[in-house]
Order: sequence, then structure tokens, then C-alpha cells
Amino acid sequence: MSRLTIYRDDAPETPLLRTESAATITAELSRIGVHFARWDSPVTLSPEDAPEKILAAYKPYLDELIGAKGAGSADVIKLTPDHPQAAAMRQKFLSEHTHTEDEVRFFVHGSGNFILHLDGRVYDAHCTQGDLISVPAGIRHWFDAGVEPFFTALRVFTDTSGWVAHFTGDTISERFPAA
Ligand SMILES: [Fe+2]
Repeated sequence: MSRLTIYRDDAPETPLLRTESAATITAELSRIGVHFARWDSPVTLSPEDAPEKILAAYKPYLDELIGAKGAGSADVIKLTPDHPQAAAMRQKFLSEHTHTEDEVRFFVHGSGNFILHLDGRVYDAHCTQGDLISVPAGIRHWFDAGVEPFFTALRVFTDTSGWVAHFTGDTISERFPAA
């Protein structure tokens, strides 16, 4: 179940709002310029399916999104707990950072938390299968897939250099609950 938890950025122990309503999540994130949507699965996919099959299944959605964003392309990223680099890959994006282009992810399987920090608030978006989230360029955030990371996600992008994390040096992510 998708979930959004909002905190004051100096009060990680007292959430201001916690909701599992997709409509409320969409509305709250929209207020800060973050696009959130749910895509109905056009077919039943297995985590073992090849990237080409996953991309083909979601092509109508992707074409519309890529057209709307003017982004260049899409690919598939998978992470499973038995991946030898799973812990390192989780660690890589656990500290607050920004990117030079929007970070657009669609969860085909599994889940992950995008935690956004702006306007004195922290927005922890627990995304699950069927969720699309687009984190605008420049917004401070971190990503936590948990100690047993499991997800298959579509990435929509123009230039892979946009994935480079520019760390802010703020240790705020250590003060908020881990996924
Ligand atoms: Fe990021």
C-alpha cells in the first residue's frame, strides 16, 4: 500500500500527516510540485521478466509521459536482497542530495521510499507496485529501499548524467525513520 508521511523537518518523531489514500498522496505531493500517479498494470508481469517485455508492456504510458516531459528514453532497474551490491546500492542514495534533471520512477514490482525535503517539511513517500513519482530537478531528497531492497522500476530520463547525486552535506536523513 502506498503511503505518505509528512513531518516538520525538525520533528521526526511527530508526523503531521500519514495517509494511504492515493488521492490525498497525489494532492499533497502536487502542492510541492511532485507528480505522483498510479498506473493500472496492462498485463501481469513477473519480476523475472526481461526489461524489453516490461518496457513494451508500459509503452503507452511511457510514450505519453516522455512526450509530456520531453524526456529522451526509459530503462529498467532491478534490485533484489541477494544482489551482491544491495547494501552498497542502498547506501548510495541514503544521504540528502539533488539531481540536475527530474528523477522519474515507476514501480513495476516491490517498493521504495522517496523522502523529499523542502519548505521546512519532510515528505516520506512510500511507493509500491503501480506508483509513478517524479521528483523535480533540484529538490532535496533521499531514497531508501530498506535493508532488504526489492524493486523493479522504470526510469525515465534524458541524460544519464542527471542521475549523478549532488550531496547537500546535510545529515537530516539520519534523523528520520529508515524504510
Ligand atoms: Fe535521487
